Amino acid sequence: MTHPADFTVPEVEDFDSPHALFAELRGHCPVAWADEMGGFWAVTKHADICRVLTEWQTFTTTVQNVVPRVATTQRRPPLHLDPPGNIPYRNAILRFLSPRRIEDWKPVIAAMVAEHFDPFVAAGGGDICADFSFTLPIALLAEFFRLAPDEAAEIRIVGAEFNMALQRQDFDLLRERSDALYNIAARLIEDRKASPQDPDLDPVSNLLAVRVDGAALPDDKILGALRQFLLVGIIAPTTFIGSMAVHLARHPEHHAELTANPALVPVALEELLRLYTPYRGFARTATRDVELGGKLVKEGDPLAVVFTSGNRDEDVFPDPHSYRLDRDAPDLVTFGRGPHMCPGSPLARVLLAEVLLQIAQKTRDLRLTGPLEMTRWPEYGPLAVHLALTPAG
Ligand code: HEM
Repeated sequence: MTHPADFTVPEVEDFDSPHALFAELRGHCPVAWADEMGGFWAVTKHADICRVLTEWQTFTTTVQNVVPRVATTQRRPPLHLDPPGNIPYRNAILRFLSPRRIEDWKPVIAAMVAEHFDPFVAAGGGDICADFSFTLPIALLAEFFRLAPDEAAEIRIVGAEFNMALQRQDFDLLRERSDALYNIAARLIEDRKASPQDPDLDPVSNLLAVRVDGAALPDDKILGALRQFLLVGIIAPTTFIGSMAVHLARHPEHHAELTANPALVPVALEELLRLYTPYRGFARTATRDVELGGKLVKEGDPLAVVFTSGNRDEDVFPDPHSYRLDRDAPDLVTFGRGPHMCPGSPLARVLLAEVLLQIAQKTRDLRLTGPLEMTRWPEYGPLAVHLALTPAG
């Protein structure tokens, strides 16, 4: 389906330009059609985003999950299935992300962040994405899935290369590294089938133990679920850590405030997650003709729920482009809404708060030393942030 174009997706962007475009769209065309990337509606207002995500009977996830569409041969649960098909996979993961489990992760994550960040500080800086944020989330997921040390070492390299290929849209390398990730996931499943671990401790053994009407989950879906986890869990933290670093370099007063008062880190993190929301292109497809934001969305049309925009919606967040620590319980859409809302958000928050804390504690005087390289749809954020810094004395 095509419609008259309401806006053009820019070929070149910088750190601020997407926010300027989305502000303009929210102002006079909050549900806007673009012909690029296969054609899609950009849904930019907070309320419309929440409606699309919660009205899953009208806006299905089973056709296209991101803009631009990535051709996938596999259905990867839970994200690619509408309720109730997604539920067994989602529940199997959620039990490992309860508040009690997350508490146990805190010291592990603090040590992991230090292991990856201290060399960067000692070197006086570098590219915080290539040298730090591309590898850290993968190390965490390797730990989360209890990979054996040799598999963990391999996935740290394969995962980082996959992440870079994906974000730079190097499709040849991407296919190759994607296959390697599938192989690691397949070996993990085989290993747990041969030597099951305690399903209370091991996510893959738990997925294998799930029964729906007496039947095990299909192998290919378990593999897809694992692969889904590896994908969504590594991408957003990578670019978002880059965005945090850019913000602190641009605003030394905010950096100094966190150094002086680390208790502000959790609320500062929420504000940064609002300002620099890393996903803008998660997608749904209309299952019928439906009116949204004054437009007639036709059955079969893809829609991108632009979280990066919804979190700066002036109807929900006064003074939306400013960093303010006095917002009262801000209603963020950073982690989505509805049946697919990110189950990893508590773990992500612990990881990112620890990163922000260690940046505040271990560095002084962050300076940008080169141009930023930006990612593209479906993400938002930098892929390269060259920094110089002074280690804290
Ligand atoms: C800054 C970090 C992160 C952000 C902003 C983020 C954001 C999101 C969003 C917006 C969704 C919903 C997508 C949709 O509705 O189409 C999602 C889904 C998901 N996320 Fe995250 N995520 C982050 C980190 C993580 C981490 C660390 C994990 C793993 C521990 C994770 C695991 C998942 C999974 C498995 C789904 C699919 C859930 C489902 O379909 O039921 N995410 N994430």
